Amino acid sequence: MRDCIKHQNMGMALICFLLLSLSIVSCSPASPVAQPEATVALPAGSTLRALAQAHGLSIGAAVNVAALDGDPNYDRLLGYEFNMVTPENAMKFDQTEPEQDVYTFAAADKIVDFARSHGMQVRGHNLVWYENLPDWLTQGHFSRDQLMAILHDHITTVVSHYAAQVNIWDVVNEGIDDNGNLRDSFWLRALGPQYIDLAFRWAHEANPQAKLFYNDYGGEGLGHKSDAIYNLVKSLLQRKVPISGVGLQMHISLDNAPAPSAVIANMKRLAALGLQVQITEMDVAVQNDTRPMSARLAAQAGIYASMLHACLSVHQCTAFVLWGFTDRYSWIPQITGHSDAPLIFDTDYRPKPAYYALASALKTGSLPAAIFLSISASGLMNSSSLSQ
Ligand code: XIL
Repeated sequence: MRDCIKHQNMGMALICFLLLSLSIVSCSPASPVAQPEATVALPAGSTLRALAQAHGLSIGAAVNVAALDGDPNYDRLLGYEFNMVTPENAMKFDQTEPEQDVYTFAAADKIVDFARSHGMQVRGHNLVWYENLPDWLTQGHFSRDQLMAILHDHITTVVSHYAAQVNIWDVVNEGIDDNGNLRDSFWLRALGPQYIDLAFRWAHEANPQAKLFYNDYGGEGLGHKSDAIYNLVKSLLQRKVPISGVGLQMHISLDNAPAPSAVIANMKRLAALGLQVQITEMDVAVQNDTRPMSARLAAQAGIYASMLHACLSVHQCTAFVLWGFTDRYSWIPQITGHSDAPLIFDTDYRPKPAYYALASALKTGSLPAAIFLSISASGLMNSSSLSQ
């Protein structure tokens, strides 16, 4: 916090004032992973889930099943703060069907059971993706008809297994590439473009009550990728494919956060098609930035709050889900090779500025004033976004 107080920038100073007034314990970088032996303290005040509930919003986190199994503090905070979970990996193809026709649900069942006993909804993730596919499938030299039967069986079995507990599914994940074309993936090559329609139709047959989502990254704001996603889901609706919503993953970092006005505009055009939108995998990497960690965490807090505010501004935005909740188990260091602090609790489960910024945005339904000033000064915020 000392770094915060010394900071000369006006926006930062205001953020620091806000953070101080919220009694943030520390702006220091997340400490290295060390298994805390004691039971961690829960944040004082209303929980995020209670605050979100008042808006009719689901607030969630991706769940790492090993942590759920082995770290009681993880379970304690997860059930306390969130009312929605997404299995981070446990429902993916290679986990649920590691051998052909051999289904293993033990890991995902643990998450679903935890959710049930803590009054949480489950976002099923995911049914069709080009990653996390088992070798028996990708190296099996199957014919088109066989692959069709394999995918049909997989979707039917997984969705039916969870028909009573999982009423939201990411059916197709990351089907569009960074240029806005259908991704040249295992499934596109195997079945052609109609794999997307088929996947939604098969999921709907297995559980007609479930809300079915197309989920992707990099299409949160406005641009060629979000245009491609918009055009894809519009064409699905025209073909009467049973799709209910679009998931905006929101894996971002301090230097590439989308403008909140663009996120709101994108959400609104999807909503105008009759679809829900959900923020499904948010994290904000801070590693690639030269400012002191206190300034980075304050900027991160502003981005979290502004994206939550975008969601609260659009009635059809029904969930705000983070890709984890503690820096202790974030996937980001795995993919970048650098330690990072992208989530809202640090590695020792202490709430970070981003946690308090989310709580504050939920309490007031608007952006905390200091955060608004800071991000508008940084050019991230188009002033019209707040009035929409
Ligand atoms: C990631 C998990 O976090 C990692 O543990 C795993 O090794 C790879 O997948 N988009 C998605 C998620 O839809 O499923 C990905 O999860 C992150 C990017």
